[in-house]
Amino acid sequence: IYGSASDASKEVAGEVADLIRKRNKSGKKTVLGLATGSTPTQVYGELIRLHNEEGLSFENVITFNLDEYYPMEPHSLQSYVRFMNEHLFDHIDIPEEQVHIPDGTLEEENINDYCREYEEKIRAAGGLDIQLLGIGRTGHIGFNEPGSRPDSRTRLITLDRITRKDAASDFFGEENVPRRAITMGVGTILDADRVILMAWGEGKAPIIREAVEGNIREQVPATYLQEHDNAEVILDDAAAEKLT
Ligand code: F6R
Repeated sequence: IYGSASDASKEVAGEVADLIRKRNKSGKKTVLGLATGSTPTQVYGELIRLHNEEGLSFENVITFNLDEYYPMEPHSLQSYVRFMNEHLFDHIDIPEEQVHIPDGTLEEENINDYCREYEEKIRAAGGLDIQLLGIGRTGHIGFNEPGSRPDSRTRLITLDRITRKDAASDFFGEENVPRRAITMGVGTILDADRVILMAWGEGKAPIIREAVEGNIREQVPATYLQEHDNAEVILDDAAAEKLT
């Protein structure tokens, strides 16, 4: 628990940077699982600073994003491709072919095969070293909404009403928010060597209490992280205020 989201974000970015530097020294790749949304933006800001001011190189980093709305064009205002380019990739030296974000432009009949290939690419890269997560008010991680199974894999999912409400302002109205998304599964996330879930602000306090102290159950998918042996929850004071 940190006094501010900015201090907490620096800490998380520092941990990611340490792993990248260690791997770079031994000529190995680092595989990162990345999230979008408001929560990780300061982590990405700090990683960009470390790249610019301290020579942190992302040439050996491979990334897999958690999710993308479906359908979604990469150049749309709300696309996670655009988000990641603006908040991170346009500002660092990561080779384009090492970046993976679920494709929101697929024909529906090709999605299952695409999702299987996404999983295969993560495995072929050696698995996720660190997965960064935010949490939705429904308790979703990625877009694994209530009802998601612990062994779920990358797939097309229907978004919860609350999630669509929370995204309404980004889309200028709830009716414009896509009803579905492609997301890594809970099982995909749990396979990561290390998981860091972040949450800031009082709006997240009730769901953080459920996620951290509640029973493990499919109604709150973030509770599955309680069974991961290297998962950490990083909060600011406000998001932690309902913990007992
Ligand atoms: C985003 C994602 C979501 C968000 C969550 C919190 O890639 O997978 O689970 O992390 O909805 O969103 P923010 O950070 O905007 O509160």
